Amino acid sequence: MPRHYVMCPPRYFAVDYAINPWMDPGVPVDPERALHQWTELRDTYRRLGHLVDEVEPQPGLPDMVFAANSGTVVDGRVLGAKFATSQRAAEAEHFRRWFVENGFRDVTMPQETNEAEGDFTWTGHLLLAGTGFRTDPKAHAEAQEVLGVPVVSLTLVDPRYYHLDTALFVLSEASDDRPAHVAYYPDAFSVGSRKVLSRLFPDAVVADADDAACFGLNAISDGRNVVLPVEATALAEKVAAHGYEPVFVDISELRKAGGGPKCCTMEIRK
Ligand code: ARG
Repeated sequence: MPRHYVMCPPRYFAVDYAINPWMDPGVPVDPERALHQWTELRDTYRRLGHLVDEVEPQPGLPDMVFAANSGTVVDGRVLGAKFATSQRAAEAEHFRRWFVENGFRDVTMPQETNEAEGDFTWTGHLLLAGTGFRTDPKAHAEAQEVLGVPVVSLTLVDPRYYHLDTALFVLSEASDDRPAHVAYYPDAFSVGSRKVLSRLFPDAVVADADDAACFGLNAISDGRNVVLPVEATALAEKVAAHGYEPVFVDISELRKAGGGPKCCTMEIRK
């Protein structure tokens, strides 16, 4: 089944501020290389048969390439973002406009702070919702109300894995007869959240510290192909052992801002 993604080219990409432990404005970034890596990622999706739309990037918003943070779309219903940091606040409105201009009729901008698919992961049956660093727990209840789907809250405890999508991804969505298949890094979660995850997903692929440290869990799966960072070779072997096809991309330049393939990718579910 083709997927529908929204991405934003990193034409104004930079690391001018530090809002997560990966960012160091003292380390030079190569904007051309970032754009090249992003283009390869976009073309990888297209080669796999998926639809990719592009949102126009804006000067002064260097993190706008991380489109996952600007909207959560389930059943064609859109919950916009409200960023935790002032540096990224203006991104939300550009994406809201894109949704409206592209025919989405049910668009709600949130009251509570939520960084969208950074912290919200749709499993096919329910919305996993991260908190601890960016998204306010009050936003979990708001997402349940706006999107009309069950929400399960999870608490993140490691500042390097400040968004849920740096510590967990869905390999294949739940269907009527089987639960979702996910991969996650347990140490990124509180003790209670780890218990919740092992109850919900007893058959999960359990990642280790090395898998997480190269942003291996910031992956995108279409249920068969798993697009993940080129360094994530050990995690790739684990998912391949479960019948998935690893597809490697180099996102080293974007990782300097604390992002990987999934961060660059917002999924539209109609
Ligand atoms: N520099 C960005 C930030 O700290 C990176 C966002 C990564 N996005 C994600 N979905 N994890 O907000």
